[in-house]
Amino acid sequence: MQNLTQKFKDIFNAEPTLTAFAPGRINLIGEHTDYNGGFVFPAAIELGTYGVGRLRDDRKIQLYSVNFESAGVMAFDLDHLDYNAEHQWANYPKGMIRYLVEQFPEINRGFDIVVEGNIPNGASLSSSASIELLTGHLVTTLFHIDMDRLELVKMGQRVENEFIGVNSGIMDQFIVGFGKKDHAILLDTNTLEYHYVPTEFGDYKISIMNTNKRRELAESKYNERRSECERALAQLQKYLDVQSLGEISMAQFEQYADKIGDDVLMRRARHAISENERTKQAYEVLQAHDFKVFGELLNASHASLKDDYEVTGLELDTLAEAAQQVDGVLGARMTGAGFAGCAIALVHKDKIADLEEKVTEAYTKTVGYAPSFYHVDIANGVRTIEKS
Ligand code: GLA
Repeated sequence: MQNLTQKFKDIFNAEPTLTAFAPGRINLIGEHTDYNGGFVFPAAIELGTYGVGRLRDDRKIQLYSVNFESAGVMAFDLDHLDYNAEHQWANYPKGMIRYLVEQFPEINRGFDIVVEGNIPNGASLSSSASIELLTGHLVTTLFHIDMDRLELVKMGQRVENEFIGVNSGIMDQFIVGFGKKDHAILLDTNTLEYHYVPTEFGDYKISIMNTNKRRELAESKYNERRSECERALAQLQKYLDVQSLGEISMAQFEQYADKIGDDVLMRRARHAISENERTKQAYEVLQAHDFKVFGELLNASHASLKDDYEVTGLELDTLAEAAQQVDGVLGARMTGAGFAGCAIALVHKDKIADLEEKVTEAYTKTVGYAPSFYHVDIANGVRTIEKS
């Protein structure tokens, strides 16, 4: 943090008055269910984005990221807050600032912000939701605006959907906003009801494994999956009185699956519906401390994302499937949007070194470069960091 404060002083010649942190996230299970009215089960992690800021006396806004030093200071002002491709990474904070300014007339001065993230880029650990909510928290706090947390979360999702153009669900912003140390959240994305569940797996720990392959074209594929689900739903709605795939049980689906009339759409819907059931079941078995069945659900989730939803690819499959073979691993699956990025494994605490060694060997042999591993604490949501 000292570094970031120093960086702010070097660039803007003043002391920042506020420091904040927004986490990234993993998702235990419940993938590609959040825009289908289903359940998700994410947890915030101690990797995330730090930011420091200070109000200005004019209407200028200046943003600087230590992660994109060559991009330099991104400068605009309160009256010009449109998306601009030249502003690269800064469009995420800019979108948030725009919607805040539209809602709160008291934001009548500019500000300077410096950020630094330690979430690996393109790792599917939600660096974008992290910077959106970090910006929202910094700006509302600088202006003493008491904004409801859920409204801030929804605003982050709106930035993603309308400003950036990715039709994502609410999972990432929700967990970055509502995360709690040592807990995951079971969230019903239909009602937004949620429960905190301790991330206590007995002798087992979650390992995060990075393919180190950057996501490419993920946004267009993501939007394509979403519309495939909508088309499958429209077919099923001819027979079932439902608003989302999340309301359909597996038994109902099996009865009407062939009415969808298209194999690809049928498989997309089967993933969304079966994944939703697995997520509810994962919650039940965790309550009962049945980590073995929990692990089996992780494996089944990966298989469904690979075969039915087709969002994995060689790297994620090699990583998750190699981990599933390791003695002491109860289950492994991709996490987040897919296509590349990270997978998670539930591994016995004495077998972590083994997991890393065996998976690195198998992955490097098939893919040609090594994966990375992280062991991080489950964290609180976005927050101010008080000066010590
Ligand atoms: C991305 C989106 C989320 C969710 C996941 C897949 O992270 O931002 O809303 O859809 O993919 O589960």
